[in-house]
Amino acid sequence: MTTDKELFERANPVSKTAVTTLSQRAAAGYEKAAEILKRLNVDMDYYKNSAVTDERIRDVGILIHELRHVAMNRTIEESGINTIFDLPCGYSQRVFEMLDLGKTYVGGDLPAVIDSFLPVVNEMLTDEEKKRASFKVVDVTSYESLEKAVEHIDGPICITMEGLTPYLNKEEKKRLFANMKRLLAAKGGCWLAADAETMAYYRAGIGTFAKTKEEGQQMLNAFLTAFNSQSDSDIMGTILVERKGEKSSSDLNGGFDLNVVEKVYNSYGLNVERIPYYRDDIELKMFSKLTPEQIARLKTFIKDVHIWKITSNPDVSFDDSTQNSYEEGDFSSTFRNASGKLHIKLNGRVDSLTAPAFLKAWEEEFGNNKVDSVIIDCADLQYISSAGLRVLLIIKKALPDNELILHNVDEPIMDILDTTGFSDLFTVAD
Ligand SMILES: C[S@@+](CC[C@H](N)C(=O)[O-])C[C@H]1O[C@@H](n2cnc3c(N)ncnc32)[C@H](O)[C@@H]1O
Repeated sequence: MTTDKELFERANPVSKTAVTTLSQRAAAGYEKAAEILKRLNVDMDYYKNSAVTDERIRDVGILIHELRHVAMNRTIEESGINTIFDLPCGYSQRVFEMLDLGKTYVGGDLPAVIDSFLPVVNEMLTDEEKKRASFKVVDVTSYESLEKAVEHIDGPICITMEGLTPYLNKEEKKRLFANMKRLLAAKGGCWLAADAETMAYYRAGIGTFAKTKEEGQQMLNAFLTAFNSQSDSDIMGTILVERKGEKSSSDLNGGFDLNVVEKVYNSYGLNVERIPYYRDDIELKMFSKLTPEQIARLKTFIKDVHIWKITSNPDVSFDDSTQNSYEEGDFSSTFRNASGKLHIKLNGRVDSLTAPAFLKAWEEEFGNNKVDSVIIDCADLQYISSAGLRVLLIIKKALPDNELILHNVDEPIMDILDTTGFSDLFTVAD
């Protein structure tokens, strides 16, 4: 019997990465992270079972995730904003750290994460703390879900984003940018994006541990292999611009000119300030496990890596005409089986929140009836995210001849299929 959580995790495998991040922080020595892990019934050494099999890369992961978290907390404090919207919150211990600073905390994530985290965090918070903490189901590509998550908050919000953008495809990133502009324009505040230079901070971590250039290259390859097995998107393409020339893993930012990237943010009516990750006064628990030479190397390699502090430019509005309205449950599918030829009609948005319902409906059909081929009518499909595309792949793989035909595909959906490379995987017919 599949549970809702299993369905969510299969449609959104990224939700499991939050456990890895948490166990890396526990391994760095954060007691609250270790306690959350324990209460989630997860093994302390969970990160060792992740996609990363190269032990040296595990140490890099522990180091850079601690650095990212600490640099982010410092940047939050320096923003002076009282309400934190941690997006996505995963199973992060940040809620406790922010409450200790007297702040109000809103954590947003996909249902599988919120449903497991909420009971745990409720056990760990005092009644007074509970008044300042809330956890909401969101999909960052859905503006309505974000708006709803912070509707009880007056005044500016500090949106903190760690470990999400590398997992989003280009289309999802466009929606994220548009949604951040709308949210910041409505509430005020800032968006602290820790992952604009993901490749660069991983390279800094690798440079800290690698003894030779060759060893560094081996470690980088191990990291890229592990990442690619966890994500549909390309780690080198984590920022929303076309790559300059050939993909090059030796380039610190994977071939991106950060000034060009800033212009992309500007085109959404967003201003960017880059705040260095590293500062001489930074204290990491991991320092106790590093030699002075390694700390010096980290300092050198991380020098040009930044958290991006993004604010809404009041003089530039952004009209997102591609944005579809969305209400929870704004998705339906109908199935008609004609002697093994299954016709599916999709309505509304198939995103991280609704894809599990689509997967469930498909599995019920497939489990109970003979299905030889599938035709999907996309005439009323407004949007499909990578979670929805993943369900299409699951369907295709289950078919005897992998025969899945998409029908009535409008231009916006075709654009998504093209930009994600999925148009080559399915037959698109009129
Ligand atoms: C690597 S974890 C990072 C979590 C947290 N920021 C931390 O540092 O522990 C990535 C998180 O992104 C969440 N996520 C993925 N896609 C999402 C989406 N479309 N909307 C909201 N959250 C999403 C996953 O559920 C997961 O918790």
